[in-house]
Amino acid sequence: MAQPSDETPVLRTRHVGGEEPLLVARDLKQRYEVSRGLFRESGTVHAVDGVSFDLHAGRTLAVVGESGCGKSTLGRMVTMIEEPVEGTITIDGKPLDRSSAEMRKAVQIVFQNPYGSLNPRQKIGAILEEPLKINTDEDAASRRDKAKAMLERVGLRAEHYQRFPHMFSGGQRQRIAIARALMLNPKVLVLDEPVSALDVSIQAQVLNILMDLQDEFGLAYLFISHDLSVVRHIADEIMVMYLGKPVEVGEAETVFNRPRHPYTAALLSATPVADPFAEKNRIRLEGELPSPLNPPEGCNFNPRCFNVMDRCRKEEPPLETMDERLCACFNPVDVKVVGTA
Ligand SMILES: Nc1ncnc2c1ncn2[C@@H]1O[C@H](COP(=O)(O)OP(=O)(O)O)[C@@H](O)[C@H]1O
Ligand SMILES: [Mg+2]
Repeated sequence: MAQPSDETPVLRTRHVGGEEPLLVARDLKQRYEVSRGLFRESGTVHAVDGVSFDLHAGRTLAVVGESGCGKSTLGRMVTMIEEPVEGTITIDGKPLDRSSAEMRKAVQIVFQNPYGSLNPRQKIGAILEEPLKINTDEDAASRRDKAKAMLERVGLRAEHYQRFPHMFSGGQRQRIAIARALMLNPKVLVLDEPVSALDVSIQAQVLNILMDLQDEFGLAYLFISHDLSVVRHIADEIMVMYLGKPVEVGEAETVFNRPRHPYTAALLSATPVADPFAEKNRIRLEGELPSPLNPPEGCNFNPRCFNVMDRCRKEEPPLETMDERLCACFNPVDVKVVGTA
């Protein structure tokens, strides 16, 4: 029998030959005590329950899964908005430390909602300069030059400096939010559903800008999305999460072309660009996510799984190496994706 390990395993990627990862997350856990007032049940939500990954400069790890699987919680721990109850995060070998100005600059976040995240009473210039005001002693002229230059980098114009957020479209506002996140030259950007609130026609433009900025600044992205089709072109690696746990982790090509976890296959089946099954065999995800307060015995996914076996109802499958990726499943699927865009 395999030795139980304290740590969740980590994907070994082929492309980064010997290069040290920029950000290292190990066995992260976050729990919330939920009281009766808020929900009907009370108890502990294991929002993130053992997540490990490496993030490399210039590369994108996509975290995908249905709403409620713990993606935003993971993002908040990486950006030091919350401290994990267990586990460690380091950047360049040093533990994340909220009291360090350097650390705070190094990791920035962009949220889903470009309406809520920009102060409607501030001009764009002031919005972009605020991080510099708080964190640096640069003078007004230098702040203004940087803000205008950043506007152009995200595909807006220097004249926009004088305008208010309401004068911009959703896509433009999200560019402003991205520009603000870049003002302090971060190394890591957490993108929490950055295009989910935008029209599909605008999504590709913002994704392209993000990819250009990544090349220009060597940024590492933790890209959070409930929608696999969004991460198709931007992801280098993918982590599929279910109820706080990674169920499949691999290089994007590997996971998209030949998903092994039934949940990944079901998610892919629901995306129009990459359906691993012909129409008549399409997998439909049955039922809702189980209550995180009362997760099922055995594999978390077993009540909804089309490939379920007896064992899955009793034992929890460990995340382990399978076919050049990590997968937590006793009865994996083996399908070649057809109709990939
Ligand atoms: N502050 C909180 N208090 C209590 N429960 C929370 C809190 N934040 C998140 N949760 C719960 O943790 C789980 C994961 O939430 P979240 O990280 O927001 O998921 P996602 O971003 O994937 O939709 C959910 O069950 C959610 O209800
Ligand atoms: Mg979320």
